Amino acid sequence: MDNFELYNPVKLIFGKGEISKISENIDQGSRVLLAYGGGSIKKNGVYEQVKKALDSYDVIEFGGIEANPQFSTLMKAVEVVRKENIDFILAVGGGSVIDGSKFISVAAPFDGDEWSILTGEADKIKAGISLGTVLTLPATGTEMNSGSVVSRKELNEKRAFGSPFCFPKFSILDPGVVASLPVRQLRNGVVDAFVHVLEQYITYPNNAPLQDRIAEGILITLSEIGVDVITNPDDYDLASNLMWSATMALNGLISRGVPADWGTHLIGHELTSLYGIDHGQTLAIIGPNLYYKLLDSKKEKLAQFGRRVWKLEGDDEVVAVNAITRTQEFYESLGLKTKISELADDYSQASQTVFDKFTERNWLKLGEKGLITPQLAKEIVEMSI
Ligand code: NZQ
Ligand code: ZN
Repeated sequence: MDNFELYNPVKLIFGKGEISKISENIDQGSRVLLAYGGGSIKKNGVYEQVKKALDSYDVIEFGGIEANPQFSTLMKAVEVVRKENIDFILAVGGGSVIDGSKFISVAAPFDGDEWSILTGEADKIKAGISLGTVLTLPATGTEMNSGSVVSRKELNEKRAFGSPFCFPKFSILDPGVVASLPVRQLRNGVVDAFVHVLEQYITYPNNAPLQDRIAEGILITLSEIGVDVITNPDDYDLASNLMWSATMALNGLISRGVPADWGTHLIGHELTSLYGIDHGQTLAIIGPNLYYKLLDSKKEKLAQFGRRVWKLEGDDEVVAVNAITRTQEFYESLGLKTKISELADDYSQASQTVFDKFTERNWLKLGEKGLITPQLAKEIVEMSI
């Protein structure tokens, strides 16, 4: 096992009716920016619950944070935060609203070009406005981590950054919010959480049986409840288990002391940037093909995954290949597409664009063994057309 540090200060508040606890967790007298998305919270009762809990505060609303939050929109919120002397940001929404709010919180006090936060200068962040979240879509794990992903349409860019200043002070997870999610977002949520675990698990054995067993526990849970929760989103028990699994998949726990390979995500982000394909969908398309391409170097873990999660039998080679096929079938059983051509019209530039972007950013050797070169990424995209 590798050396590691674990730091996660997020107070997680989980359960039915817990949105009312917002007021116990924000200092009275705070000036609060209430950040949200395109309006789903106004249709499912979440907005009313939040407003009620914020009754005694000065509140300024900032709605309209879009899916795959845009730098230009977030910079408008940064101006509001600066002008109105906001001292607390409450993000109410899915990954996009929460990620966007993390960016707003650190960009407002940032000294310098705010875009540079996304292009490698996140270590220059020295402060963040306090942030709390009410999660409405279990998927990304952002409610309990310090990462954020922001897009910039004008540059065809979708970039991630992380900073300890981005950890929310608290996150409220009421599984009741799952009931109003459209099927498309439920599918995206299941596959996103599943692939977060895979990215931190399908590498090479590192004498870390506890991390492996926790990862496998999340994968088995998601494989058992995936189809059911999509069909019955108002089943509170199913919703709770999806929500907790998605948080556990990317709160930093299973990645301690082991290698990771974020290749599926990094290639997937390019597909969202180019074609607007949903984040979860990009993972279902790229993931299996990345594993086929890297079969030799990931064989042992793929075989372990196949045996323990999918209960497959045979020698390593056979089980590893069948594990990839079985995973792809799982995505299809959720109703996800597994080819770019099913979701984009003109995909002729996809593989070359990925090659060019990876080269430009000096992403020459990604993955746990540095085997994902721009050329390999290009070939993975070609297989995914
Ligand atoms: O905008 P509103 O009107 O709220 O509607 C949203 C949006 O249209 C809707 N929605 C959310 N909760 C709902 C609901 N509709 C009905 N009922 C509810 N309870 O769902 C749509 C999608 O929302 P979005 O926030 O975009 O989805 P998700 O949570 O999947 O977040 C995706 C973003 O997170 C990033 C992705 O790249 C993408 O930009 N990620 C962030 C990560 C992180 N910070 O750790 C890790 C992930 O790998 C991921 O990259
Ligand atoms: Zn993801």
